[in-house]
Amino acid sequence: MYTIKDYQQKLNKTIDIEKVLDLWKLYSDDMYKLYEPHLLNKEVLIVGAGHLTDFPMKKIINKASNISLYDIDKAAMLLGLETQNIDKLEVTCITGDLTKLDKTDFFKQVITLLQAKDLEGIKRFFAIVSHMNLNLDINQKFDLLIISPFYTQLLLPQYLSYLNEFVENSLFNEYLQPLLLLISEFINKINEQLLNCINSNGKVVVMSDHLEFILDDPNYLKIRKDNNQLAIDKYYEDYLSKYGHGLGSYGLENLVEKTKLIHKSWHWWPFNEKKVLLVKMGIMEKLKVGENDV
Ligand SMILES: C[S@@+](CC[C@H](N)C(=O)[O-])C[C@H]1O[C@@H](n2cnc3c(N)ncnc32)[C@H](O)[C@@H]1O
Repeated sequence: MYTIKDYQQKLNKTIDIEKVLDLWKLYSDDMYKLYEPHLLNKEVLIVGAGHLTDFPMKKIINKASNISLYDIDKAAMLLGLETQNIDKLEVTCITGDLTKLDKTDFFKQVITLLQAKDLEGIKRFFAIVSHMNLNLDINQKFDLLIISPFYTQLLLPQYLSYLNEFVENSLFNEYLQPLLLLISEFINKINEQLLNCINSNGKVVVMSDHLEFILDDPNYLKIRKDNNQLAIDKYYEDYLSKYGHGLGSYGLENLVEKTKLIHKSWHWWPFNEKKVLLVKMGIMEKLKVGENDV
């Protein structure tokens, strides 16, 4: 009832895939052009595959030697393939939970602690959970790993929904901080695990949402009008110095620290009729053994 799988499936089900495929086409084609040179005859793993609406799957399948998809929501991957007229036998779908918390009763315990307004209990519980082993349930190596935006989806939206239900607004921040700490530790471990499943000369393409704007936000209208990568860099640096990293930028930068960055670019993700997300794409090479030693 409180599983991450149920939560994500419910969320994914609210999406009208046909409509979104259309809305996201330019965005996904733009990004495809950037990672296309790294696809030819490669074994590819797409993590956070979901409905695959941010991937022109036919083009990817035609270039790569084989494709595996990873997500907690199997039904979303199957529906995504069907919508792009792709036989499910053309890819391998791996259903798994990056956090491994669905093996435990994590959110059931969280709810009990939130209902009791036991902040110290939450901190103690998360401190224990942070030591969990997050071995990835993938036992194959790939040449190219493509990460669709998932860092901001890990645990946070679900936890926020329970905070809304059980904790008054004035206490939100206090209850949020221990979770953000836990997620950062999880992201670090998940990134390590993901890097372990690519070959020594493998590459990683990361797409990560950094900011969210309502379409008539004057800040958005201004940077969109300037339409230049340096102006977005500058806007984001100012934002970082005021507010610090969000989970999206933390996830990407954490991966940059463990790899060699060969490309970065900003993209506007037309999420729905009301909001647009600012996504950073990074393309990285896996470091050779010893390359990141000081
Ligand atoms: C924002 S979506 C990415 C967009 C997606 N490629 C699409 O086109 O629908 C994030 C995806 O991450 C998946 N996800 C969230 N938490 C997960 C977890 N713990 N393990 C595996 N996948 C997870 C969700 O099911 C969702 O499909």
